[in-house]
Amino acid sequence: MSRFVPPTVTPPDRPLGVLASLRAVRRNVLEILPAIAFTQPIVTGTTGPARWHMVQSPEGMRRVFLDNAANYPKSEVMIRMLRPAVGASLFTAEGAQWRWQRQAIAPVFSARNVAALAPVMRETAERSSARIAAAKGPVEMVGEMLAATFDVICDVALSGREHFDAEAYGAAITRYFLTVGRASLLDFLKVPPWVPRPAELMGAGAVRRMHAMVGRAIAARRAQGTGRADDLLDHMLKARDPETGRRMNDRDLLHNMQFFIVAGHETTALALAWSVLLLAHDQAVQEEVAHEARTRLGERAAGPEDLPHLPQVEAVIDEAMRLYPPVGVLARDVLAEDTLHDREIRRGDTVFLNIWSLHRHRMYWQEPDAFDPSRFAPGAAEGRDRFLHLPFGAGPRICVGASFAMMQARIILATLLARHRFAPAGPLPVPVMHMTVRPEPGVTVTAIPR
Ligand code: HEM
Repeated sequence: MSRFVPPTVTPPDRPLGVLASLRAVRRNVLEILPAIAFTQPIVTGTTGPARWHMVQSPEGMRRVFLDNAANYPKSEVMIRMLRPAVGASLFTAEGAQWRWQRQAIAPVFSARNVAALAPVMRETAERSSARIAAAKGPVEMVGEMLAATFDVICDVALSGREHFDAEAYGAAITRYFLTVGRASLLDFLKVPPWVPRPAELMGAGAVRRMHAMVGRAIAARRAQGTGRADDLLDHMLKARDPETGRRMNDRDLLHNMQFFIVAGHETTALALAWSVLLLAHDQAVQEEVAHEARTRLGERAAGPEDLPHLPQVEAVIDEAMRLYPPVGVLARDVLAEDTLHDREIRRGDTVFLNIWSLHRHRMYWQEPDAFDPSRFAPGAAEGRDRFLHLPFGAGPRICVGASFAMMQARIILATLLARHRFAPAGPLPVPVMHMTVRPEPGVTVTAIPR
């Protein structure tokens, strides 16, 4: 049976030189991943003064993410892009500063707390479905899914929009991604971090606006007292390090909530938009998954009790994140010498955890570029190395919001598929990666009521 092979980026035959790399990084990070990154476990090269390794094997991922994780802190270049917006939050902190935040925040995302947020996700799915039905013409799904997941995070992170102008905040996020959030030419040339980056200055206003809004919501909740909302902010205000009892101060809270809002909606929206694109182009698979959703849900929106009965919906999201991992490449610094495969890794090198190529690797996947959600059907992953599918990373720094993201994605996708049949209505988008892997120019579909 021939499978749908969705759009990808044709890799260059060999690693690019300095200038070509810099141009490609500004245009699309995926363009710098060379063809051998899809056939070899590790690729080593130099760009100007910088020596780097691209790792795309399960063994390499295990070593860097888990077995020798302390040797590979997050890259200073990556942190630098995020620090203006999220300071030393859980995502950006290292060492003791990271550990205590992780211990305090992990319970906030416990199964019980996440399940308590499901009603909000269900209502959001309902509203998104109604907007799609009302559109009466083509719908652009990246925008629609961003609206839906932003809706969820506003409600569960801040209990609504009282202190919060969602439109102004959304505009500020976009501005931030277009400025500070782009790998700077200066970073790649290893110019010292105290030299101001032009993009950073341009993004400063956007960061101030975002911080002011989130700050107002936190202050209002402190005044009102915790214990009533049972949402993320409530749990964050009560969170404490189990070892020391330490609690978050206002800055810790601001930076972490800010990160949840940005990371918590963009990545999930992309996973959903890519899922819809894949299904729109593969009507046979869409009909099977829609049948599963419709049989279980009928006219209702999905809730957490439905999720164990919707394995195909989950498989589609897993396969969409294999083909289009929202976080495609991560960068790590190297503290001390190590060996990865046959390669000598030296202090000061950069290691790129190349999730994009791992997920499409010729050595590990059959028909790696084809859309085939049966790879993730119940039981299908048995015996497969779990370090082959890493949309949420792995090891101690694995995504703390993974179960939150998967619950929200499954509830929204199942609800939409039970009610609408999606068909392509625009150009096939290409994947473009800056911080996240986005479909450009978007995913335009028509939605026919079922
Ligand atoms: C489909 C959606 C998502 C994807 C693909 C994703 C992906 C990732 C990845 C790959 C990492 C590891 C980064 C590294 O090792 O350098 C990560 C970490 C993290 N994610 Fe997510 N994420 C998603 C949704 C969320 C949500 C919904 C939240 C919170 C509401 C969240 C919060 C975080 C935090 C706080 C970390 C840092 C954890 C630590 O360093 O201890 N993410 N995410």
